[in-house]
Amino acid sequence: MVAKLLGLAFLYLTTGPFTFSAHGTSVYPVPTSSVKINPNWEVVYQDTDVYGVVGKAVILECGTSVPDIYIWSFTKPGTDAIKAVVYNLGKGPRIQQFAETLGHLTIISNSAAVSIEKLPLAAHGLFTCQAFYNIDKEPVVYYYYVHLNVRVPVSKPYLLLSDVSPVEGSTMWMRCNLENGTGPIQYVWQHETHSGNITVVAQGSSNLINITDINRNHTGWYRCVATNAVNSESSNRLWLDTIYGPDIPRIDVTPYSITERGYSALERETVSLMCQAPSNPASQYVWFYNNSQVYSGPQYTITKILRMHTGDYACLAQNTYLNTRSKKTISLTVYYPPDGSPSCSVEAALNHTALKLLCVWAGGFPSPSLDWTGDLVQAGKTQVDAEQQTNLQSGTAIILPSGSVTPNSLFRCVGSHPALKQTTECSTRTYIPPAEPVCFAYVTNTQQYLMLSCSWDGGAPKALVWWEGPGGQSKGGQENSNILVLRYGTARSGKPYTCYAKHPLMVEAKSCRLTLGQS
Ligand SMILES: *[C@@H]1O[C@H](CO)[C@@H](O)[C@H](O)[C@H]1NC(C)=O
Ligand SMILES: *[C@@H]1O[C@H](CO)[C@@H](O)[C@H](O)[C@H]1NC(C)=O
Ligand SMILES: *[C@@H]1O[C@H](CO)[C@@H](O)[C@H](O)[C@H]1NC(C)=O
Ligand SMILES: *[C@@H]1O[C@H](CO)[C@@H](O)[C@H](O)[C@H]1NC(C)=O
Ligand SMILES: *[C@@H]1O[C@H](CO)[C@@H](O)[C@H](O)[C@H]1NC(C)=O
Ligand SMILES: *[C@@H]1O[C@H](CO)[C@@H](O)[C@H](O)[C@H]1NC(C)=O
Repeated sequence: MVAKLLGLAFLYLTTGPFTFSAHGTSVYPVPTSSVKINPNWEVVYQDTDVYGVVGKAVILECGTSVPDIYIWSFTKPGTDAIKAVVYNLGKGPRIQQFAETLGHLTIISNSAAVSIEKLPLAAHGLFTCQAFYNIDKEPVVYYYYVHLNVRVPVSKPYLLLSDVSPVEGSTMWMRCNLENGTGPIQYVWQHETHSGNITVVAQGSSNLINITDINRNHTGWYRCVATNAVNSESSNRLWLDTIYGPDIPRIDVTPYSITERGYSALERETVSLMCQAPSNPASQYVWFYNNSQVYSGPQYTITKILRMHTGDYACLAQNTYLNTRSKKTISLTVYYPPDGSPSCSVEAALNHTALKLLCVWAGGFPSPSLDWTGDLVQAGKTQVDAEQQTNLQSGTAIILPSGSVTPNSLFRCVGSHPALKQTTECSTRTYIPPAEPVCFAYVTNTQQYLMLSCSWDGGAPKALVWWEGPGGQSKGGQENSNILVLRYGTARSGKPYTCYAKHPLMVEAKSCRLTLGQS
């Protein structure tokens, strides 16, 4: 630096038209001892940084007051040479030819400041203004170092993607390319969704970002913004189209009805199966019933579904670009009602000490629901499913103990089924036989047998009739009537034969008796 300064001084001394040698020698060299004695002899150095923008104007100041004499010179960075730009030795500024390389350069009137219009990049460097004040009396010398930084605005960046349609899970990079721009440059990466939501993906000093494990949420517009100390420019946006899928399909069944077995539908209903599997490009759909292809397209509609349509329905989604596929299967059960209407009956139970109301309505899926109503005294109601036979039979039964039911009661059984809009029913009535039990005896034509007949007809359910005779001659219970057959000679005379008749509606058994006379 000292060498340069001396060079400058020499330049000044040799080019100056005036006789400043006395001043010159008083400036250079300065004995170190005299610095303390006469510090005014020392050259004053001042440094400033000036920031200019290429193509714009800049003013380089040379002190605050106008010097008597000044010389502006320029040193290109990386070189040693110092070159004169303009000087004024009191007879007006003399701009050097060399100054043309530094842009359109003028001296601002009544000052030593340099103004450059349309700053070129070549003006980047060190400007030195050597200013001499008060030269008639006690001269003062200043060296103003003006470091002119010429900055280049960032040009419009353009975005480059390593892949504009990456597959989900892959890795890609994005580069923000820039032709011009003085560093440091900051990059901001923006992502804009379909809906116009803009977020910053990344920012920093690197013009390259890597995106690992791309997913569908990366789909959208991308742009980069480059910023330096001068300005900020944004690239055009680029669409990134992530390729993915198909995901596992989602099946929607309308009308919606789900059971522990899967989906259910009612016979004769229109059932629509909708399949959706997110994918890019969009999924192609194929429907299968029990592994046979039945339809292509997302929505498979079955108008008036029948019980034979029960089975497994599978939706296969395909991404034809990636040649990938996914599948989902549901099971659909078609509900159908039993035929006709339920049938009601009443029978005796528990050895005719109770009534059993039976309601049977076979067929249908699932089993219909059957409910007894009417003159029910809810005494010990139990529900049982009828025999599990090969032909699906279902029914319900209630056991009612004797005494809990009044004679001539009406019971109704109401059947309902999900596949039927209306309920359907049957009914049954209970009666005690209207008359008393009747006992009589007669002899067969061949006179071989004596028949003791007992009957108690007309009940619902039927009464149990049995005989008890002397000497253990008895006959177990039969319904409605019972005949005790005695070999003609074995009948005991004088001892009663008793017929008992028990109806489930009555707690006590009735009886009639026959006593055989001597013949
Ligand atoms: C970059 O700078 C050069 C030189 O100044 C100029 O010719 C070019 O047009 C600039 N590029 C852009 C994109 O501004
Ligand atoms: C934009 O995204 C943010 C965060 O993901 C979210 O909170 C906001 O609701 C979104 N705005 C719109 C308009 O989608
Ligand atoms: C991006 O990945 C490349 C290699 O794939 C690597 O060289 C580079 O450093 C990565 N850049 C960043 C910013 O992670
Ligand atoms: C995508 O974004 C959604 C909503 O923000 C989120 O629920 C989902 O997990 C994201 N998917 C992936 C693969 O990151
Ligand atoms: C389809 O499969 C279901 C369940 O395996 C079966 O019940 C049904 O009979 C099958 N249907 C046809 C037409 O094969
Ligand atoms: C049924 O009742 C009759 C008459 O009360 C009785 O004799 C018979 O032992 C009973 N049978 C059973 C199995 O309880």
